[in-house]
Amino acid sequence: MSSQSQQQMNKRDLLENKRKESLLGGGEERIKSQHSKGKLTARERIHFLMDENSFNEVGAFVTHRSNDFGMQKQKFLGDGVVTGYGTINGRLVYVFSQDFTVFGGSLSETHAEKICKIMDLAIQNGAPVIGLNDSGGARIQEGVVSLGGYADIFYRNTIASGVIPQISAIMGPCAGGAVYSPAITDFIGMVENTSYMFVTGPNVVKTVTNEEVSSEQLGGASVHSSKSGVAHFSFINEIDCLTNLKKLLSYMPQNCEEKAPSQPYQSANEQRDQLKNIVPENANQPYDMREVIEGLVDEESFFEVHKNFAENIVVGFARLAGRSIGIVANNPSALAGVLDVHSSTKGARFVRFCDAFNIPLLVLEDVPGFLPGTDQEWNAIITNGAKLLYAFSEATVPRITVITRKAYGGAYDVMNSKHIGADMNFAWPSAEIAVMGAKGAAEIIFKKEISSAADSDQAWKEKEAEYAEIFANPYRAAERGFIDDVIYPEETRSRLISAFSMLENKVKNLPRKKHGNIPL
Ligand code: HXC
Repeated sequence: MSSQSQQQMNKRDLLENKRKESLLGGGEERIKSQHSKGKLTARERIHFLMDENSFNEVGAFVTHRSNDFGMQKQKFLGDGVVTGYGTINGRLVYVFSQDFTVFGGSLSETHAEKICKIMDLAIQNGAPVIGLNDSGGARIQEGVVSLGGYADIFYRNTIASGVIPQISAIMGPCAGGAVYSPAITDFIGMVENTSYMFVTGPNVVKTVTNEEVSSEQLGGASVHSSKSGVAHFSFINEIDCLTNLKKLLSYMPQNCEEKAPSQPYQSANEQRDQLKNIVPENANQPYDMREVIEGLVDEESFFEVHKNFAENIVVGFARLAGRSIGIVANNPSALAGVLDVHSSTKGARFVRFCDAFNIPLLVLEDVPGFLPGTDQEWNAIITNGAKLLYAFSEATVPRITVITRKAYGGAYDVMNSKHIGADMNFAWPSAEIAVMGAKGAAEIIFKKEISSAADSDQAWKEKEAEYAEIFANPYRAAERGFIDDVIYPEETRSRLISAFSMLENKVKNLPRKKHGNIPL
C-alpha cells in the first residue's frame, strides 16, 4: 500500500472511530443505567420515531467549550443532544433528542447551539420540530452561558409558533426554566412514571412551603395531563409516546402556508343511524359527546387531545371524508358540559392551533352556560371565558357548528355562533337555543305570577312549559338565520362533508394589525 493510500486509510479510520465514539454518547455504563430506569437512549428514540434510515444527524462531533471545573478533560462527541432531520410517514421533520448519558442531558452553550441550528432550519424550510426532552437542566459547570442558551431556544420557540408545528415529548427530567421551551410548543406529551416537569423541585418546595411531595406527585405525567393541563398527553411508555406523536403529526400541515394532507377516501353511504338515539329525551340526562364524534367522523380517525383535563369539553383531531378537521365539543357527561376556566382555556388553545395551521373546525354544542360560583369568578372565568370567545372570533378557517341540544346564554354566543363568524350552523331537532333553561327562565320572568298563584308549583310548571314551547327548540334561531338548517342526526355526517367541501377555498382576511391582544 502506498503511503498516500495509507494516510487516506487513516483518515477514514479516524472518521469511523469518531462516528463510533459519538454513537456511544456517555458510554456503555451510562447507557445501561438509562435502560435500567426503563428509558431508551436518545438515539433509540429517534430510531423509533423516524422512518427507517431517514435520519440525518447534524453536529455529531460538537463538543462543549468549557474549561472550568476540569471540564476540558470531559468531552463527549455530540455534547448531550442528538440533532438532525429525516422523515415521518414520508414527511420532513426536524428533531432534537437530549442524551441523558452525557452530563445528564444538561444544556451547555453548544448543546443549545445545536438545537437552535435545527430550529432555524425548520423555520426556514417550513417543517415541524419534535423535541425529545430528557435533561437535568442548565449545565451547572457553565453558568450563565447555559442560561443564555435556553433563552436562545425560547426565543426560537416563540418565533416559530404559528409558523411550523412544534411538539415536545418529555421522557425524563425537565425542570427549572427548562420547562418553558416545551410550554411554548404546541403539544406536550409525557411518559408515565419516568418523566416529570416542574419549575421548582420537591426539595425547594419542602424548604419554601414545608410540603412533602414526590417528583411524580409534583409534576408527573398524570398530574400534568389531568390537573394542570400543562401536558396534552400522558403515555404509558416511550414507544406509546413516539407512536402517538407520529399519528398526531399526520393531522397537521408542514407549516402555516399549507393545508393538512388528506387521506384517500372512497365515498359511501354516509347515513349514520347510530346518531339517532344518542341524545336522551330528558334534557337533563347526560350522554357522552364522544359517541356523537365517533358517529360522525371517519372510522377510528378521532385523536383526542387533553383527554383527561377539563373533561367537560372534548377537543381533538379527526378526519371527515379523508380531510383533517379539529373538533371542539361540549361534553354533557362531565359537569353537564358547562364552560369553566379550564375548559375555556383548553378549547381556546386548540382553536388557535387549528386556525394557525389551516385545519377546519367542527364544533358540537350542548352547553348549559358558564359555571357559577366564587371559585370560578375568583379564578377569572371572565378573562378565561373570553379566551375561547376571542379564539373563535379571530379564526379564519372554515368553521361549522352543530347544536345537538342545549345552547344557552353567553355560551351560545361563544361556541362558534354565526354572530362571531361561523360559516355554517346546524341544529338537531333536539336543540334548545335560549337565554337559559326553561325552569330558571320561568322562575325569573314569571316570579310574581308563580308566587301569587294558589298552587305555585303548578303555576311554575305551566310557565316552564310555556317558555319551553317557545324557546326549547331550534326554530326561533332558524327563523332569524342564526341557524342555517335544522337537520336529522343521521344525515349530519353527509351534510358536514358537503359543507366542509363547499368551504374548502374559504378566504377571509382580518384587518391589518401587528397582533391582537387576546385576554391572557
Ligand atoms: C451538569 C449534570 C446536571 C446538570 C445531572 N448532571 N444534572 N451535570 N449539569 N444540570 C450529571 C450528573 O453529575 C451525573 O454525571 C449525570 O448527569 C447523571 O445524573 P444523576 O444525578 O446521577 O442522575 P439521577 O439520579 O437520575 O438524577 C437526575 C437529576 C439530578 C434529578 C436530574 O441529576 C439533578 O438533580 N440534577 C441537577 C438538576 C438541576 O438543579 N439543574 C439545574 C436547574 S436550573 P455522571 O458523570 O455521574 O454520569 C435550570 C435553569 C434553567 O435548569 C433556566 C432556564 C431559563
